[in-house]
Amino acid sequence: MGELGTRSMGAQAITVWTVRGVVPHPEGDDVTAGDDLLAGQVAYYRRRAREYDVTAYGDLAAARARINRIAAVLRPDGNVLEIACGTGVWTSALAGVATAVTAIDAAPEMIDIARGRVTAANVRFEVADVYSWQAPARFDTVFFAFWLSHVPASRFEQFWRQLRGLVAEQGRVLLVDEHPDVRGKEAYAEGSGEIIQRRLADGSKHRLVKLFVHPGQLQARLHQLGWQSRIRRDGHDWESRRGESHPPPLAEPDLNLSAHPAPIVQPSGLRPIRQ
Ligand SMILES: C[S@@+](CC[C@H](N)C(=O)[O-])C[C@H]1O[C@@H](n2cnc3c(N)ncnc32)[C@H](O)[C@@H]1O
Repeated sequence: MGELGTRSMGAQAITVWTVRGVVPHPEGDDVTAGDDLLAGQVAYYRRRAREYDVTAYGDLAAARARINRIAAVLRPDGNVLEIACGTGVWTSALAGVATAVTAIDAAPEMIDIARGRVTAANVRFEVADVYSWQAPARFDTVFFAFWLSHVPASRFEQFWRQLRGLVAEQGRVLLVDEHPDVRGKEAYAEGSGEIIQRRLADGSKHRLVKLFVHPGQLQARLHQLGWQSRIRRDGHDWESRRGESHPPPLAEPDLNLSAHPAPIVQPSGLRPIRQ
């Protein structure tokens, strides 16, 4: 069944990153690269939309429980923008804690599924390419799950500059992504550290960006760009193989306030997913 059945039986780890902007980022050069690849990435997710929940999350009920727990800790409050919302699994959790959620994704098929899933009155979906999207206003919180690893290195600075314009003065950026520990599940194109090849259930082959960044390196990079960040690791069992055995809740509620990295929490009993 597509990629899930092939190389994804190793350990899986999730990193929760929370970021707050503190000083303006000096303007840099615009970087444009890999437009074809980025378009191909959208095409891949359009085609994958119907199988996404199964191949990405497996046991959706278990995933939801975890996502709700993480959302409760991160507390994405106020007017929230969710970038690359996919099928709306995270959107649903955001809607429960935010005043309002604007959720965007470039794949209309993803948005269709998300709209069917999340009918809360405080949520608005929009099909939009994040790189060219014109925001109607700034947001108190900008959130994205499993998106940053799809941003190529050549777009990293541009993307974080864009975020600065999207988030309100005292706002926050919150994100969740995969830890480099699970990099081995991907098949990298020869000679590339960020372009991978994947196959869908229908046999079609796709190339997309998957750039695993070590949390410490991300933190240092963001610091260079004028962001203060706290990064913590959250390990959990997506499949609940351990029944009621859950790791301790994320310890510090004010994840966004400290200038120091949060301690790394070791994962326990992790099951693979493919984002
Ligand atoms: C790994 S999925 C993550 C989905 C969702 N956040 C989740 O965690 O379940 C990446 C998502 O990014 C979307 N995407 C890809 N390129 C995009 C772009 N340029 N602008 C907006 N969304 C994009 C895809 O359609 C896909 O839904």
